[in-house]
Amino acid sequence: MNTLVLYDSRFGHTEHLAMEIAEKFKEHGKAEIMRVHTLGVEDMRDTDLLVLGAPSHNRGLTPAMEEFLANVPPSALLGKHVAVFDTRNKAPWVVAGSAAHRLARRVKGLGAKLVVSPKSFFLTRDDGPLTDGEDLEADDWAHVVVEKARNIN
Ligand SMILES: Cc1cc2nc3c(=O)[nH]c(=O)nc-3n(C[C@H](O)[C@H](O)[C@H](O)COP(=O)(O)O)c2cc1C
Repeated sequence: MNTLVLYDSRFGHTEHLAMEIAEKFKEHGKAEIMRVHTLGVEDMRDTDLLVLGAPSHNRGLTPAMEEFLANVPPSALLGKHVAVFDTRNKAPWVVAGSAAHRLARRVKGLGAKLVVSPKSFFLTRDDGPLTDGEDLEADDWAHVVVEKARNIN
């Protein structure tokens, strides 16, 4: 399976989790990781599974993630298998907002197929650190995503 993990990050925690998740995928095939603003559409051409990760900002997406979604040609995501995660403060997502829920809605609107529900990883404060156990949780989540995506492919 060919996976691309595409992320944005201000303080480095989403990047850290994206790297960990990409490492897990490398156990099951080819996996690349890119920061969202360095992506060209051609980078997604051979991707079986796209994983999008973003910090939650102002109850939604960062400007870089917004820009990616605004500019991605619909054909690039149509029918593509996608999994989404965010990092955010530990409060119900209806209060704190969730980049992952926003991503899910947007990519589904562009014709992508979500392989699992949106996933959040939590921080103790805006600039971190991640709450205890989130590294393990990221490994577990990556494992679930791999299994789901394999059963679809
Ligand atoms: C400008 C800004 C706005 C934020 N807004 C929210 C928010 O609405 N909800 C939330 O849960 N966390 C919010 N946060 C906390 C971020 O989600 C947190 O900084 C981020 O998950 C850390 O990820 P990073 O290390 O990859 O940047 C905000 C942080 C910043 C800097």
